[in-house]
Amino acid sequence: MAKLPKKRKIKEKRKGKKVSIIGSGHVGLVTGACLAELGNRVICVDNNVEKIATLNRGEMPIYELGLEELVKRNVRARRLFFTTSIKEGVDNSEIIFIAVNTPPKPDGGADLCYVEAVSREVAKTMESYKIIVEKSTVPVETGKWISRTVKLNNKKNINFDIVSNPEFLREGSAVYDFMHPDRIVLGVQSKKAEKIMRELYQPLNAPIIVTDIESAEIIKHASNSFLAMKISYINSIANICEKVGADINKVAHAIGCDRRIGSDFLYAGVGFGGACLPKDLQAFVGITQKLGYDFDLLKVVEKINHEQREFLVNKVRDAVWNIKDKTIGILGLAFKPNTDDMRNAPSIEIIQMLQREEAKIKAYDPVAIPAARGILKEVTYCKDSYDTANGCDALVILTEWEEFKRLDLKKIKKLMRAPIIIDGRNIFEPEKMKRLGFIYRSIGRST
Ligand code: NAD
Ligand code: UGA
Repeated sequence: MAKLPKKRKIKEKRKGKKVSIIGSGHVGLVTGACLAELGNRVICVDNNVEKIATLNRGEMPIYELGLEELVKRNVRARRLFFTTSIKEGVDNSEIIFIAVNTPPKPDGGADLCYVEAVSREVAKTMESYKIIVEKSTVPVETGKWISRTVKLNNKKNINFDIVSNPEFLREGSAVYDFMHPDRIVLGVQSKKAEKIMRELYQPLNAPIIVTDIESAEIIKHASNSFLAMKISYINSIANICEKVGADINKVAHAIGCDRRIGSDFLYAGVGFGGACLPKDLQAFVGITQKLGYDFDLLKVVEKINHEQREFLVNKVRDAVWNIKDKTIGILGLAFKPNTDDMRNAPSIEIIQMLQREEAKIKAYDPVAIPAARGILKEVTYCKDSYDTANGCDALVILTEWEEFKRLDLKKIKKLMRAPIIIDGRNIFEPEKMKRLGFIYRSIGRST
């Protein structure tokens, strides 16, 4: 569980920079709030009028641990501002971060329209030297396109530098991750930009890796693809474990003890979701294909991830027999705990598969229900886990929220029509569940 960052002491003699962040979503807002906390004057820009109005009312457009406190503190200190005007941001800052979304196109490639639109707008408005920072996750060579776009649209021929500064934060622990990075990557083309960016990040006291722009762009896609590969790898091992009665948790623990492999991202489950791993994997396959390389390895990572959802539905079928007309309770909708983000959440695919077989779905998530309502229809959203379990033929756990680990399982059992739990996140011990009288199925462990 991520810890909240302690309020950092800003050294009085360090002069903060003037920064604007264009795109105030999960990355932009966190980046803006954290840079303000480090003593910089930050303007967060977004073209979503409602989002900016929400922020100006002092409310949060997203749920992210510790973010609200950080935003409020820096707004009060007059270091953090919100606007819909790119011009206002550009006029009042030297460093301009582009943190807009880069969603997948139908062919899997990254849609860079928003990046282009912002680059054009920045170019038209800028009147003095600017560092334009590519914070969004983009395919290699996007920096070149941004540079070209800015040159074409800046009629006054103002000097500027492009920096690629990929972001590695995770949702649910975004503030902590930003403040405690393993490394900061700066893809630069000038010493001047490098110096200014080093000064900006200096208070974080983190290792800074300076590269050319293309290497920095590849570092981001390669990192996310590697993490995705680790998850699909362990999910494949889990499937083998199930066939022979081995225990994936023990296997993963022992594999991870080898420091060359590492224990992170070896948790078997229903596969990875979220706004980034699936999208970036596809985009990386797409860009490498364009460059003339067939990245078969990553295509298989994607296939395994999709199959993992199907295996879960098979487990439900094996436990309840016919899915049609059965009431299935879903615990956990968000793609991971501590966030309300539903983008590419495994719950979406799994619930829709169950609905196609005419299951009746009840569901609960501690924070993601408002976001889920817009995506998953014909679902009875419940007030808590017990309400969900009431009258269910099976419960399916899809997100490993802490509160699910502390459930009163005896009470759950009494409320259910049949004591069946399919645990897609391995949060309970099979032996204990058996003792309690559950039919319990999990991932990569014998029952
Ligand atoms: P998001 O959808 O939460 O936020 C993007 C914001 O950009 C939105 O608020 C949108 O309104 C705004 N925007 C779009 N076009 C704009 C324009 N022309 N002018 C002003 N604002 C505009 O997306 P996100 O999750 O913050 O991701 C942003 C980028 O960062 C993506 O490339 C993503 O891959 C990358 N990234 C995300 C994470 C993460 O955990 N979410 C982590 C690392 C990197
Ligand atoms: C991921 C990366 O971890 C970040 O470094 C990166 O900055 C970010 O993508 C991004 O580029 O947007 P995030 O998507 O927030 O962060 O969440 P993760 O913790 O990576 O989890 C992604 C998915 O993988 C979740 O669905 C999670 O349940 C799943 N997962 C993760 C597993 O199934 N097993 C694991 O061992 C770890």
